Amino acid sequence: MQAWVHFAVILSCFGELSVGDNLRFASYYGEHMVLQKAPEKAVVWGYGITGAEVQISLAGPQNEQVKSVPVLDGIWRVILDPVQVGGPYNLTATQRGSKIVLTDVLFGDVWLCGGQSNMAFTLGQVYNASEELAMATKFPNVRVFQAALEMSSVELTDLAGVEVPWSRPTPEILGGKDFTHFSAVCWLFGRYLYESLKYPIGLVESCWGGTPVEAWSSLRALHSCGLKEPESSDEWDKEWNSTVLWNAMIHPLLNMTIKGAIWYQGEANAQYNQDKYSCTFPAMIDDWRMAFHAGSEGQTAPDFPFGFVQLCTYRKVTQDGFPEIRWHQTADYGFAPNERMKKTFMAVAVDLPDESSPWGSIHPRDKQDVAYRLVLGARAKIRATLSSDTFEICCSKEKKPCTSDSQWIPAPMKEQGSDYVLVSIAKCPLENVAALRYAWSDWPCSFKACPIYSADGVLPAPLFIFNRWPTHS
Ligand SMILES: *[C@@H]1O[C@H](CO)[C@@H](O)[C@H](O)[C@H]1NC(C)=O
Ligand SMILES: *[C@@H]1O[C@H](CO)[C@@H](O)[C@H](O)[C@H]1NC(C)=O
Ligand SMILES: *[C@@H]1O[C@H](CO)[C@@H](O)[C@H](O)[C@H]1NC(C)=O
Ligand SMILES: *[C@@H]1O[C@H](CO)[C@@H](O)[C@H](O)[C@H]1NC(C)=O
Repeated sequence: MQAWVHFAVILSCFGELSVGDNLRFASYYGEHMVLQKAPEKAVVWGYGITGAEVQISLAGPQNEQVKSVPVLDGIWRVILDPVQVGGPYNLTATQRGSKIVLTDVLFGDVWLCGGQSNMAFTLGQVYNASEELAMATKFPNVRVFQAALEMSSVELTDLAGVEVPWSRPTPEILGGKDFTHFSAVCWLFGRYLYESLKYPIGLVESCWGGTPVEAWSSLRALHSCGLKEPESSDEWDKEWNSTVLWNAMIHPLLNMTIKGAIWYQGEANAQYNQDKYSCTFPAMIDDWRMAFHAGSEGQTAPDFPFGFVQLCTYRKVTQDGFPEIRWHQTADYGFAPNERMKKTFMAVAVDLPDESSPWGSIHPRDKQDVAYRLVLGARAKIRATLSSDTFEICCSKEKKPCTSDSQWIPAPMKEQGSDYVLVSIAKCPLENVAALRYAWSDWPCSFKACPIYSADGVLPAPLFIFNRWPTHS
């Protein structure tokens, strides 16, 4: 696999030429990339000459900033001030006479996509592949990056190779050779997210077919489940070795700021350390969260949203351990999120069998439904953090009906009974509460999670508004 990294390198005429070879960004920063938007701060790092300062500047529509940082042991690192969604920006690194400009940089949400072959399954392999591929260029603000397949027995600082450098989507990039680039689940997840959030989405694919959770786990995580290193035997391929993919394909990414991660894996553990999976999978999630939080100096949330696909079907007549592994994917709770796996979300895929898939029934072609179900979960997590005060009051001294232009303030629910809801009027004096409205926004609640339903919990209440003062006649 040819690993290639693309940089725009401009050397000024008076700089020492040798200097230019030293200044560069880490492998996973490049033109067309998406960096994590505000409120988080994006982390950017690279290489330079020890002792000399590196100047990093960002120039674009809503934000300009310049930072100077020292180079320690050949590495510089910058935490940018928060940048709102949008772009394009230029990100420039200068040191002595050398300059590197990364153009067309966007700010949005960055998601990591991990797992085994059902995550590696490309957009060119899905049902309706030609239609899906033809649509790619309509989503230039959904950008993709993919780590190359590499393994290592030690934790690497940077990726050893890049399969797809940051790119705008094209049919060629999304529909590469089978199981190469680009992940259908990852792409469709990003595209559907974009369709509802309407701001740039950056997708970082780092996955490898046929690999067990142990390969993607650090020693810390394995030890916490009583596993030792290396948990491998000669009958298995090397990429089955414990920690080798964590070391080469996840550890290097810890230093960037991400919004969340999605994961499609488990088949390789249906017959391998299956009984440990209810420990190893949640332990890997905890460990990734801790490590991404630390690696980004606190920018990536310590409990970032983590979505996963509960395995689809494999064979009808044999017993391959799929019910057990599906159960273990939930830490034996049967549902997610749960007490052990907080802030996770799960896409159930058991109703999407594909017996005649050209890639074997273990690789079902309907990735659209899988990705859509993941997006419903992710949206619920993102919306929850954006706060969705579904009730609002109009706080006004004027004795007349309130309109959309009136001052509406959130009225958080304090208590809910079977036939009443108590809301807080917050800082508004009672005599000024002029109206109450419910679900009055384009998107008031996440999937099947509005506050008010019929007594049997099935039918959602529609929006309503009560004005205290009657309309003037
Ligand atoms: C970014 O760099 C490109 C190429 O040098 C230039 O054309 C463009 O004007 C720059 N954009 C900003 C916002 O500075
Ligand atoms: C995988 O494990 C085998 C057996 O323990 C070992 O010989 C090999 O070096 C390991 N490979 C890597 C990449 O760590
Ligand atoms: C990346 O994060 C790791 C883990 O916190 C840290 O040890 C390492 O120094 C960081 N690397 C860079 C280049 O900042
Ligand atoms: C494929 O396209 C057809 C026709 O538009 C549609 O009915 C079907 O749901 C699509 N399949 C998937 C998996 O999206």
